[in-house]
Amino acid sequence: MTHHSLFEPLRLGELALRNRIVMAPMTRNRAAADGVPTPMMAEHYGQRASAGLIVAEGTWPSVTGQAYCRQPGIETEAHIAGWRRVTDAVHARGGLIVLQVMHGGRIGSHRIKPPGVETVAPSAIRASGEVWTDAAGMLPYDTPRALSTEEVRAVVAEHAQAALNARAAGFDGVELHGTSGYLAMQFLSSATNHRADEYGGDAVARSRFAFECLQAMARAIGAGRVGLRLNPGNTYNDTADEDSAATHAELLRQAATLNLAYLHVMKSPVPEIDAFAIARQHFGERLIVNDGFSPDSAASAVTAGQAQAVSFARHFIGNPDLAERIRAGLPLARFDRKTLYTAGEAGYVDYPSA
Ligand SMILES: Cc1cc2nc3c(=O)[nH]c(=O)nc-3n(C[C@H](O)[C@H](O)[C@H](O)COP(=O)(O)O)c2cc1C
Repeated sequence: MTHHSLFEPLRLGELALRNRIVMAPMTRNRAAADGVPTPMMAEHYGQRASAGLIVAEGTWPSVTGQAYCRQPGIETEAHIAGWRRVTDAVHARGGLIVLQVMHGGRIGSHRIKPPGVETVAPSAIRASGEVWTDAAGMLPYDTPRALSTEEVRAVVAEHAQAALNARAAGFDGVELHGTSGYLAMQFLSSATNHRADEYGGDAVARSRFAFECLQAMARAIGAGRVGLRLNPGNTYNDTADEDSAATHAELLRQAATLNLAYLHVMKSPVPEIDAFAIARQHFGERLIVNDGFSPDSAASAVTAGQAQAVSFARHFIGNPDLAERIRAGLPLARFDRKTLYTAGEAGYVDYPSA
């Protein structure tokens, strides 16, 4: 089958993509212990620069939001300098790269963060499950402390600062992580948000935190450089919502007023929820769709106008030159699950180009 539709250039806000093959964000835990991006991360992302757009992995705006060991940050001058190596490597090969801003909220452990740094969330409700800590192995998630209203506003401001820092590091834009049970989704979801202030209650109020983060980031660096990632019906990290489709529709109605660069929407795990239809109805025509696409199904989705671009995560692990392979009709390589989150170069910078 022909994949021509994936190689039409595309404009998403201020982002000019040379093709419609997007690299989805992937946490790979290769930063230093203090969240500073390492030279091997520059090599990894540079190898993947032929994507139309790279969304770099979920990155914390402040260390309170660090969810995982060796997860990068975008808070300090050292973070900015480390990421600068990454963006330079991608730009040198003609690529485009945005940073996914991810505050973990209640997903995390004090043993992952520096001494004295708390774990915070909309409400003091612990997530079931455990998280890996380099200090003490697997540990249960912390019981978070509920943020005060003032503190919520401060976290919103941290998102704006993260966007400014990302630009200082050379990123072309940022994407707010609104899925997978991290902070923005903890606010959205009725099971994790029991607040009585303006950030809790009905879907309008539960959408407020994500909306204000997007608005603050847009004011900081321009709406045309800000994207949003959503996955209606997602229950990852012990989240649940009384009506996820309706809540997401409400957030999208709010977000649509901002004229953002794009919406990055994943297929819903709930069969009754058509996430792409909700996205088209409430957000419009700047959609990147994701989850389980092959080159063939991606080309069909773009040709049919279901979306303007498609993102791939797992295919990019073993195929650094995924876009080139799709263009040439070459077979795709597999990857090794054992090295997904390990610290070294193996399984990270050693997959060859075709
Ligand atoms: C190793 C790994 C790490 C991931 N990390 C993130 C992340 O940091 N942020 C995010 O939004 N999604 C993350 N995801 C989800 C992917 O972006 C993507 O939505 C998912 O893998 C489905 O797409 P695919 O079928 O093309 O792999 C991760 C997935 C994998 C496999």
